[in-house]
Amino acid sequence: MAYLEWTENLSVGVKRMDDHHKKLVDLINMLFDAMSGDATRAVDTVLSDLLDYTRYHFGEEEKLLAACGYPDLEEHQGVHRGMVKEVLDMRQRYLDNPVSVSPNEALDFLSKWLMRHIIGKDLRYRSYAEGQPDPGA
Ligand SMILES: [Fe+2]
Ligand SMILES: [Fe+2]
Repeated sequence: MAYLEWTENLSVGVKRMDDHHKKLVDLINMLFDAMSGDATRAVDTVLSDLLDYTRYHFGEEEKLLAACGYPDLEEHQGVHRGMVKEVLDMRQRYLDNPVSVSPNEALDFLSKWLMRHIIGKDLRYRSYAEGQPDPGA
């Protein structure tokens, strides 16, 4: 299976956010590699990194959306919260029984988890955030 890739059509118009999304893509690919090995501990480390970075990114993105007056911020925050829970659930399922989550399943799930969000939700803030000062930059 091919690794997940960030492409220019995913750009939200704010470099720092694009960089965050690229980092999430890297972490998802690292998770696939770790799961393809047989060290449960390595997988859990990458999953923790992915969770930490996801929380960090969502927090920074929400600050940016607040600063540029994005009208659907509350809805977006709710979606972010649900996404963190989805990864926590997957992590728990993996820790309870590592063979219950295959590397391909995890990659497929997280690819959709990230891409659907960037395309379906993050791209909507592009016209509000593009060209505005980034409070975190
Ligand atoms: Fe988002
Ligand atoms: Fe995002």
